[in-house]
Amino acid sequence: MATVLYPGSFDPLHLGHIDVIEQSVALFGKVIVGVMHNPTKPSGMFTLEQRVSMIKESISYMPSVKVVAFEGLAVDAVKQVKAAFIVKGLRTGGDFEVEQQMAHTNHAVSGVRTVYLPCKPALVSISSRFIREIAQYGGDVTSLVPAPVASGLATQFPRKGTS
Ligand code: PNS
Repeated sequence: MATVLYPGSFDPLHLGHIDVIEQSVALFGKVIVGVMHNPTKPSGMFTLEQRVSMIKESISYMPSVKVVAFEGLAVDAVKQVKAAFIVKGLRTGGDFEVEQQMAHTNHAVSGVRTVYLPCKPALVSISSRFIREIAQYGGDVTSLVPAPVASGLATQFPRKGTS
């Protein structure tokens, strides 16, 4: 049984992320979901606190998963929580390119390894970016996100025809 860190911006958490968390629990045992800032993305839609709270609610059925917000580098978070390695989900070849570069760089600067898990084929098209875009225009994303995230989005962006 190992403890692994699953870092991401999770803005917001979606069903693809849940799949990676479930796979990590089954394979490794203990999972720390690290809610972090991605410097390449514009400022978040939800605050770190809101994301942590929605993720906690969404994964409450998995007692070996902890959700923690971290500032700074993912490799420092790995050391802080004494995780064995980083876990990342892969949807497409595009993800692989980006993740491979990050994994090599993280290993070069810290010795921390990254393990990739493939997303379920049915979930590979889900992305937080498109969820944000659809929700901001009042569209329905309830088939793409866990219920606590759907209600967080509905509070922030009332659905068309519901207000
Ligand atoms: O869900 P995302 O946006 O793809 O997650 C990216 C994230 C947050 C894991 C990545 O930006 C990250 O690791 N941020 C922390 C800063 C860091 O460690 N940068 C070094 C990258 S080699």
